[in-house]
Amino acid sequence: MTRDTDSRDGVEQADREKLPDGGTAAGDGDDVALDPWGSAAVADYRKLFEEFGIEEFDELLPEVPDPHYLMRRGVIFGHRDYRRVADAMVNDEPFAALSGFMPTGDPHIGHKLVFDEIIWHQRQGGDAYALIADLEAHSARGMTWDEIDEHARDYLLSLLALGFDPEEGTLYRQSGDRDVQDLAFELGSKANFSELENIYGFSGETSVSHMQSVVTQMADILYPQLDEPKPTVIPVGPDQDPHVRLARDLAARMGYFSVTEAYASFEADAEERELLAAAYAALSEETSEDETVRCEDAADWLEDEMAPGAARESAVAKLREAGKEPLRPRVRFLDRNATEDAFEALIGAVEGEKRVFDEHVDAFDLSREDAEELAREVELDHGGYGFVAPSSIYHRFMTGLTGGKMSSSVPASHISLLDDPEDGYDKVKAATTGGRETAEKQRELGGRADECPVYELYAYLLAGDDDEFAKEVYDECVGGERLCGDCKEQAARLMREFLAEHQEKREEVEDLLEQADIELDSDRKRN
Ligand code: TRP
Ligand code: SF4
Repeated sequence: MTRDTDSRDGVEQADREKLPDGGTAAGDGDDVALDPWGSAAVADYRKLFEEFGIEEFDELLPEVPDPHYLMRRGVIFGHRDYRRVADAMVNDEPFAALSGFMPTGDPHIGHKLVFDEIIWHQRQGGDAYALIADLEAHSARGMTWDEIDEHARDYLLSLLALGFDPEEGTLYRQSGDRDVQDLAFELGSKANFSELENIYGFSGETSVSHMQSVVTQMADILYPQLDEPKPTVIPVGPDQDPHVRLARDLAARMGYFSVTEAYASFEADAEERELLAAAYAALSEETSEDETVRCEDAADWLEDEMAPGAARESAVAKLREAGKEPLRPRVRFLDRNATEDAFEALIGAVEGEKRVFDEHVDAFDLSREDAEELAREVELDHGGYGFVAPSSIYHRFMTGLTGGKMSSSVPASHISLLDDPEDGYDKVKAATTGGRETAEKQRELGGRADECPVYELYAYLLAGDDDEFAKEVYDECVGGERLCGDCKEQAARLMREFLAEHQEKREEVEDLLEQADIELDSDRKRN
């Protein structure tokens, strides 16, 4: 039982009916706020692309070998930097997948999406990690340790029953892993309170342990890279995106060097850089081989050719200041956290023409990728982490069976993996549909599969890998050949079958869980 009313910190509690992985439905309201501990309604997925910079998964789909059905059906709709992981898969290079589960209730069909994603990446050859976010459940949701132990076991049994291989993969709980705690501490030195306040809405009332659970999650996300940096995907719901963004930032902040592109000795921001690139491209075209493009020429060009604006004015000012200095593209290594030895080693390792400054090195014959790789190598050689920015994939939230949000506090709205198969059958039979008022109308107009929670069950779960079956249900529905009564009966039976089988498998994997390297009982005082 959760104790959401027992607010231990200042984070808004009222809207906390979301399920622990954020496995709730697209709801109403036009807000797109991404709040890991708030309501997980996403009214408009397009806004996530426009406002938050999440990228569309579909564009990457052709590059993913043998994509999972959740990818093929658009359930996994967005990503950050997943190309890195797809490339590693294609080239047989190391990669990892990790996700975490807050043990606040029963595992349900929303969690199954994430379990399946982890397991799929494991089968594709990745190092797979699943963790129990017990510190977060205790500090952010007020769960007792007894409740946490009970739920943790249930999550793990379902994960194993669905096919996670605990011998190949790694299971841990946040509270039981010293390496995670140590890494959390180190990462915490690169983040401060104001930042957490901005990202998560923390206030002076937020408990220190809740904040600690945030740095712990940052450590979770980077944990697969402790032995060796590698592309890592974090499959989650979009409500977890703030965590992913912070982890990507912290990974960079931990680095010895940051690698940027530059055109002259001064620093420029991204917008200014774009202008400099344009000026350089145009001017080097017109300038003969033995002449040099100079900063002041670029300033003139920008004033003649580009629309006025803040970025143009600041770029021009910098260029004028640099005057006769040549304008030349280069990659820049900025010293962030490097030891003196490491900085010296980097200087030595840069091939080709270079210029060394107090806190940076400019290299003229290196591509950006090669420069990043070189920086990572030097960092690793000198005892740094060398983190690769973690990637993520985002799945859609399921609609509740009763319409509206899927909510753990409304049992009829969702199906727990522990539900009695007969109850599962009944819940599907009682679900709202995208059907028409009468059978005649349905035959005439067709059903609204796109708005139907029952169709979602087929697409997300019941059709499994069988795309043809999923398509048949869809086509028959919208074509008016399928009526809701029969359609629900079929889905209800499939659900009953799935639950019975899943629960049988859960019993079969009990031994596997006992043997797995994870502590099942927390030995903690009650407080
Ligand atoms: N915060 C996640 C949730 O609310 C759980 C979690 C903890 C997690 N650590 C993680 C998710 C690392 C992904 C990666 O369910
Ligand atoms: Fe939904 Fe099936 Fe009815 Fe179509 S026929 S609206 S998929 S229940």
